[in-house]
Amino acid sequence: MAREWWQDAVFYQIYPRSFADANGDGIGDLNGITAHLDYLNDGLTDGLTDGSGASLGIDAIWLSPINPSPLSDWGYDVSDYCDVHPDLGTLASFDRLVAEAHRRGIRIVLDLVPNHTSDQHAWFRESRSSRTNPKRDWYLWRRGRDGAAPNNWSSTFGGSAWEFDAASGEWYLHSFLREQPDLNFRNPEVVEAMHAVIRFWLDRGVDGFRVDVIAQMIKDAQFRDNPEVPKDRNLTQLERLAYEQRYSSDQPEVHDVIRGFRRVLDGYPARMMVGEVWPRDPRSLADYLRADELQQAFNFRFLFSPWQASAFRSRIEEVESLLGPDAWPTYTLSNHDFPRHITRYGASNAEARARMAAVLLLTMRGTPFIYYGEEIGMPNVGIPADRKRDPMGRDGCRTPMQWTAKRNGGFTTASEAWLPLGDCNAINVEKQLGDASSMLALYRRMIHLRKHSRALSEGTYRTEAHAPDDCLIFHREAPTQRVMVALNFSDAPRRIEVPRASILLSTDRIRRDDMLGGVSELSANEALILKIS
Ligand code: GLC
Ligand code: CA
Repeated sequence: MAREWWQDAVFYQIYPRSFADANGDGIGDLNGITAHLDYLNDGLTDGLTDGSGASLGIDAIWLSPINPSPLSDWGYDVSDYCDVHPDLGTLASFDRLVAEAHRRGIRIVLDLVPNHTSDQHAWFRESRSSRTNPKRDWYLWRRGRDGAAPNNWSSTFGGSAWEFDAASGEWYLHSFLREQPDLNFRNPEVVEAMHAVIRFWLDRGVDGFRVDVIAQMIKDAQFRDNPEVPKDRNLTQLERLAYEQRYSSDQPEVHDVIRGFRRVLDGYPARMMVGEVWPRDPRSLADYLRADELQQAFNFRFLFSPWQASAFRSRIEEVESLLGPDAWPTYTLSNHDFPRHITRYGASNAEARARMAAVLLLTMRGTPFIYYGEEIGMPNVGIPADRKRDPMGRDGCRTPMQWTAKRNGGFTTASEAWLPLGDCNAINVEKQLGDASSMLALYRRMIHLRKHSRALSEGTYRTEAHAPDDCLIFHREAPTQRVMVALNFSDAPRRIEVPRASILLSTDRIRRDDMLGGVSELSANEALILKIS
C-alpha cells in the first residue's frame, strides 16, 4: 500500500474558541488561528534538530466545529452546516485560513457532525412543524409506548434519549442533548443532504473531516430496547456501551453510510476521514477501517489507559493485532471531551509523566493527534461555578491557549476571556520558546525526530518481551533503521538490557552519554529513544 499523507502527518486539534482572539471580543476566532500558523508550522524550520526552531512542525489541523450553532453543545449542535459561526468569522476568513495554512504545508480537517443537528436547524424546524411535513422523516419521530417514551434508550448525556413534542404528539430521538435531534440516515434525502455538505467544504479546499460519533448514525430499524446494564458488575465506560447502545449504535448498516461518505471524498484527490468511533466491542474498530470506509479511527482505549506500562502495552498490542499490518492506527491522549492527560496522570511528577507520554504518543506506529496546549503542558483548569459554560462539565480542558505571561495569557485583549485561563505565569508559549528543556522543546524535537526517522514514521511495531514489569520497551523497525523506545513508568530507576545503540533522545535532563549498551539504567520516569547500531 502506498503511503498517504495522513499516515506521515502529525495532527493538532484546535478548539477554535480557545486558540487566539483576533478581534478582542474574548472569544477565539479563525483570524486568530491564521495569525498563529507560524507557531504550528512556518514551513521553513524543518532543518532544525535541537528543538530551538520557532515552529512545532505539525502537518494538519483538526478544527472542532466552526459552524453556526446556538451553542447548547458548544458547536456540536449545528444550525447551518454550510456557514461559519459569526463569533469565529466568515466564509471569507475561513478561506483565508485554508490558503495561509496550505501555503505553509498545513492541511485543514473540519469536524463533521452528521448524527444530529441543532433543534434550531431549518431542517428540524420544518420536521417539527407537522407530522406531514416533507422533512418529518429526516429525523427519528416515534409514537410513545403506553404514554411514555418509545423505548428505553438513554442519552449519552443522561436521561431518556426521547423528547416529547406536544404540538405534534410524537417523540423525537436525541442521542445527546434534547437540543440535538438525531437525523435519520435511512432516509436517502438525508444522505444526499450530508453528501452536499461534504462537497461544500471539499470544494473550498478542506483536506478531510473528523466525523463526530460516526458509529451512531444508524439505529436499529425496529427500535428494540437496549439490554439492562448488569448491576453486579463493575464495568468500564467502554464496556457499558455494549449494553447501553446495543441497538442504538454500531449497527451493521452504518457501514453503508460511511462508504457513501467515502465515495464523495474519493471524488477529490488526497482527502481523508478520521472517525470518532465508539465500537460496542473493541474488536469492531477494525470494521470501520476498511479500504472503502474510514482511513483513521481514534483508539480510545489508549486514551483511557491508566498510567501503567502493562496497560499501555496491552492496548497497543490489541490495536496492532486487530488492525493488522495494513490498517493504520490513530493515537491521541487528550481532546475536548476529557480532562487533559497531564492532569489525569496527576501526582507530583505529572510533568515527567507528560514528557514520557509525549514520547509514547509520537513514537507509535500510527498517526498522532496532539490537543492544543498539551505541547506546553497546559493542565485542566478549575472553573468557578459562575463561569461554567458546558452542561457536561468539560470546560476545564477547553480553556484559552496560554501564549504569554501577560494578562489573559496574550489570548485576548478583552478584559475577560470566554473561559478563565490557567496559570499563565507558570506555563506559556513565550517562556517555553526560549527554553531548550521545556515541554514545547520536547514536542518539537519529537515531531522532528519522528518525521526524519523511517523507523518511527513507518516502521513495524514489536514489544520487547524482556522488560521490567513497570517498563514498556518496544522496537520500531524499518529496512534501513532500527529504533528502540524504553519508558520507565516507575518512580525509581530500572535496569534494562540494551543492544549497542546511540541515544536519539532522553527525557532525563541529566543524561550526558550519547552511546549505550549492555545493562543500562533508566531513570525514574525516563523515556529513552535509541538508534540500534
Ligand atoms: C462527540 C463530541 C462531543 C459532543 C458529542 C455530541 O462525542 O466529541 O464533544 O458533545 O459528540 O455531538
Ligand atoms: Ca474573537
